[in-house]
Amino acid sequence: MNQTLTNRRATNVLLCVSFLLVGLLLVGCGQQSGVPGAVALASEEAQTESAPSDAPAESVGSPDVQEFTSCGGQKTVKVSKELAGQDLADALMDQWKRDHPEANWVTEERQKHAFNPPADNSHLLQGDQGKGHTYGNYTERDLLTWARETEKFVAEGSRIFHSAGELGSTVGVSCDMCHPHAANTHPETYPKFQVQLGRVALLRDMIDWCVENPVRGKHMDPDGPTMRALEAYIMAQRQGVPMNYGKH
Ligand code: HEC
Repeated sequence: MNQTLTNRRATNVLLCVSFLLVGLLLVGCGQQSGVPGAVALASEEAQTESAPSDAPAESVGSPDVQEFTSCGGQKTVKVSKELAGQDLADALMDQWKRDHPEANWVTEERQKHAFNPPADNSHLLQGDQGKGHTYGNYTERDLLTWARETEKFVAEGSRIFHSAGELGSTVGVSCDMCHPHAANTHPETYPKFQVQLGRVALLRDMIDWCVENPVRGKHMDPDGPTMRALEAYIMAQRQGVPMNYGKH
C-alpha cells in the first residue's frame, strides 16, 4: 500500500522531530510556567500568523518569543510565547515540515471524531453455527451488543484523543492536532525498539511518551481507563493493516 510505505518513510525521518519535542518539554517548562492562561482549548479559527519562520533573527531573547531546540540542538526554532494549543502544535509541525519537505506527515484531511466501524460478524449467523457448542447459536441481538459495546469503547478513546482537557494537557494540545484520524501512530508496528525511550516499547509506552512530551500532560496509568480507551481508538483506526511488529 502506497500510503503505508509513505507513512513508514515519514516515520523514519520523523525520529528527528522527537528531539524537538523533548526540547519543547525542557525549554518550554521553564519558560511557560509563569504564563497565565496557558491552557487554551484549540479552536478551528486558530491563527498561525506568528509562525516560527516569521520571527526575525534579532528577536532572540525577546520576551515575546520562546525557543525550542530542534534535531539534536543543530537548530533553534522560535515561536511566539503566546502560542498554545493548536497554534503551538501547528507552529512546531510547520517548522519541522519546512525542514523535512520530503516527509508526508499529514496524509488525511482532519475530520474530528470519525472512526472505523468494528468488523462485520454477520457470517456467524449463516449456515451451521455449531449448535451445542458453548459459543454457538449467536443471535442478531448478540452481534448488535458486541458492535455497540465495542464502538462505545472506541468512541470514548476518540473523545479523549481529541480533548486537551481529558488528556491533562497544560498547553491546550490534543493528539489529533498532530495525528488527525490517528495518522502516523502505527500501532501495528509494536512492540518495537524506540530510540527516544532507549528500549523496546509497547503502543501504550509511546502514547505515554506523547502525553508527557508534546502534550505536556502527566504520566498515564498504563492500565487506567484513559490509556485503555486511547489504545482502543488508535487500534480501531488501523483496521485491516497487517501486524508487523518491530517495523520502523
Ligand atoms: C506536537 C505534535 C504531536 C502531538 C500533539 C502528539 N504527537 Fe504523537 N508523535 C509525534 C511525532 C513527531 C511522533 C514521531 C516520533 C518518533 O517516531 O520518533 C509521534 C509518535 C507517536 C506514536 C508512535 C508512532 C510510530 O510510528 O511508532 C504514537 C503511538 C503517538 N505518537 C501517539 C500520540 C498520542 C496518543 C498523542 C496524544 C496523547 C500524541 N501522539 C500527540 C507528534 C505528536
